[in-house]
Amino acid sequence: MRATISGAGKYIPKKVMKNRDLEKMVDTNDDWILTRTGISERHIASSLETTSSMGAEAAKKALKMSGLAKEDIEMIIFASMSHDKLFPASACLVQDELKIPRTGTVDIEAACSGFVYGLSLANAYVVSGMFKNVLVIGADTMSRIVDWTDRNTCVLFGDGAGAAIVSRSEDENSGFLGFRLRGDGSYKNLLYMEAGGSFKPASHESVEKKEHFLRMNGHSTFKIAVRMMSDVLEDLTKEHKLELPDIDIVIPHQANRRIIEGVAERLSIPLDSFYINLNKYGNTSAATIPIALTEALEEKRIRKGNLVAFVALGGGFTWGSALLRW
Ligand SMILES: CC(C)(COP(=O)(O)OP(=O)(O)OC[C@H]1O[C@@H](n2cnc3c(N)ncnc32)[C@H](O)[C@@H]1OP(=O)(O)O)[C@@H](O)C(=O)NCCC(=O)NCCS
Repeated sequence: MRATISGAGKYIPKKVMKNRDLEKMVDTNDDWILTRTGISERHIASSLETTSSMGAEAAKKALKMSGLAKEDIEMIIFASMSHDKLFPASACLVQDELKIPRTGTVDIEAACSGFVYGLSLANAYVVSGMFKNVLVIGADTMSRIVDWTDRNTCVLFGDGAGAAIVSRSEDENSGFLGFRLRGDGSYKNLLYMEAGGSFKPASHESVEKKEHFLRMNGHSTFKIAVRMMSDVLEDLTKEHKLELPDIDIVIPHQANRRIIEGVAERLSIPLDSFYINLNKYGNTSAATIPIALTEALEEKRIRKGNLVAFVALGGGFTWGSALLRW
């Protein structure tokens, strides 16, 4: 039995923050941001929007595309690094918001790789025969966890949500071929949030020291991202006795255009085969891949029979790839 994607959807908050707007906030400029990252603008959630509310909107669109009813969803997997609260799970909040009547609900945290991890879990549920339809959401409100006085990080991120429904495939030739997932906690000090968990609960001191914001060593992360994302995609392709040129479209995590160019160069895959939309949204963490997937479908960049690759790296570090015959 194969599992496939039966629907995808996105939600982007209305408010746009351009690079020029950031020039008024930190010592940066449009040219630096554009040439070093490829980002022109990002969207910022309103005070009424949260990670789960954006996720619910994306889920509605994915459900609509799949043609399924709410009753058909048996599990909700919600990937994020900026969940509404430590608990209850954002998946529960989406269940309540959309009134999905009979479903399991679980949050996962694999930072920017969360959506690829979510797809792998959904795939396992479906191919095992346990569930027929699983809703996977990737959403992040990065504007709430970045330090708006730190030019090294605040220019890179944005808010948004994407979702996909993973369903039993009716066509034996289409569906997920496989996944390769990796994690290495020895990189834990390259991308992290210091306080707010059980290690260092919130205190006056943690707030004063700005320890509730994301911290990143961008330079090291960059180099590791290019290497790990390339390796994991190459290994998965080989494992399935396919060649890299067989891939019709790569939907990569959208952190930095130069990271994507680095992966393309390392693997000798033409850059045209990569779907890139980070110029409009920045890095929306777990949301980048489902937003990109939705837009690639809207633009008819994915056709029946295409070999689609997903690849991501995020804090932890976690990284992984997936291959899907559309
Ligand atoms: C953050 C990133 C864009 C920086 O690009 P870079 O080419 O590595 O640049 P460096 O870190 O070497 O910094 C170069 C200079 O630009 C400066 N700089 C950093 N941010 C800046 C900004 N927003 N505006 C202007 N200058 C900036 C640095 O202070 C540094 O100045 P110095 O040479 O005087 O010390 C890049 O490293 C990156 O994208 N990293 C990975 C991000 C990522 O993938 N994160 C999430 C993973 S899921």
